[in-house]
Amino acid sequence: MMDWNTLEQTCTACTGCGLCEGRHTVVFGVGNREADVMFIGEGPGEQEDLKGEPFVGAAGKLLDDMLRIIDLDRKHNCYIANIVKCRPPHNRDPLETEQDACIAYLRNQIQLIRPKIIVCLGRIAAMRIIREDYRITREHGQWVEKDGIWMTAIYHPSALLRDVTKRPETFDDLLSIREKIKELNAQI
Ligand code: URA
Repeated sequence: MMDWNTLEQTCTACTGCGLCEGRHTVVFGVGNREADVMFIGEGPGEQEDLKGEPFVGAAGKLLDDMLRIIDLDRKHNCYIANIVKCRPPHNRDPLETEQDACIAYLRNQIQLIRPKIIVCLGRIAAMRIIREDYRITREHGQWVEKDGIWMTAIYHPSALLRDVTKRPETFDDLLSIREKIKELNAQI
């Protein structure tokens, strides 16, 4: 396992897959490195690639609103990262090979943070982190404990921008995340 500085430096200089060729910036992650709650998205989009921070485009604004509902804030009490750290061209899904090349960085981040809760944003992250055959439509908001970490997935904010009918279910999922945070904090 690398320490934060080594990890960030290594990741920032990575040429482990083809995505390095088109990137402006490696989008490493943002937030409190001691947070109890970690959010995992899929990969940077255009704005993120330019700015070097996850979820700063339209979906990011919605994510910030969603976090606020459950008293979280990207700077103070959660950490946000992606499965792949470089932008896939035209915002396509990251290929399996790209995810394979990048996942060790995320695993190292998880080991350093040791979150109590991981929230996957969308099916790509859920399939990578929770279960290969995860079905977001059927399983969002459900909890599983894996390696001592409570995990769930919610719809990706981009999906919520495209389809507002998914928002009420997501609101319920957010409340369930807030409950889980309270529950786990009460245990110690
Ligand atoms: N979508 C993601 O999955 N991650 C980002 O950082 C931005 C948009």
